[in-house]
Amino acid sequence: MTTNSRNTGSGGGPAAATTLALFDDPPRAAREPLGTGAFVLPGFALPFVDELLPAIRAVEAQAPFRHLVTPGGFTMSVALTNCGALGWTSDRRGYRYSATDPDSGRPWPAMPEALARLAREAASAAGFDGFAPDACLVNRYAPGARLSLHQDKDERDYGAPIVSVSLGMPAVFLFGGLARGDKAARVPLAHGDVVVWGGEDRLRYHGVLPLKDEPHPLLGAIRINLTFRKAG
Ligand code: SIN
Ligand code: FE2
Repeated sequence: MTTNSRNTGSGGGPAAATTLALFDDPPRAAREPLGTGAFVLPGFALPFVDELLPAIRAVEAQAPFRHLVTPGGFTMSVALTNCGALGWTSDRRGYRYSATDPDSGRPWPAMPEALARLAREAASAAGFDGFAPDACLVNRYAPGARLSLHQDKDERDYGAPIVSVSLGMPAVFLFGGLARGDKAARVPLAHGDVVVWGGEDRLRYHGVLPLKDEPHPLLGAIRINLTFRKAG
């Protein structure tokens, strides 16, 4: 399903309510370019939310969120878990993808079908057909958590795009250039928004400003970000 219903979330409500909601919050374009291969898809994930939230809870039950340490010894403010064949981890020895959760020694939970379908459809909507992610990072932000500018470059090849889904509290996404010092655009992201970057934009620096405390009706004072990648 590729309809966007940013204002009503579930669609199908009374016509009067829908009209009022449209006046409150005018619909955004179906895709907003950040580059030739990079797009924000406003509200693209909203039709999937009812399936995503229980699926994320099931992943978390098998592989709890944890605060990873970087090779430099910094404890990340964002808590992370993974699902899919490969999961991204970090410790004092470096960043890497691993088929097992280092905390439990078990394989990461399988990628729930609803997540894989959302990733595939969002990639297609941004012009990248045939996206088959084998890794989904699940990032959890509390107020104050941030992600400094970085490139996603631990994947084996850069032919596939990155698909990044925002749920819960709003955030300001930083989307920079191919060099760390390039000026970064500040992109407000709301619950249900998806960002896709690939092609010549695949290695753009990006990050997230410290989150404000703006609790979301469904998720409370939490932001969840799903980042889908073809890692192996
Ligand atoms: C990431 O770069 O891995 C996450 C970006 C986000 O939380 O929006
Ligand atoms: Fe990233």
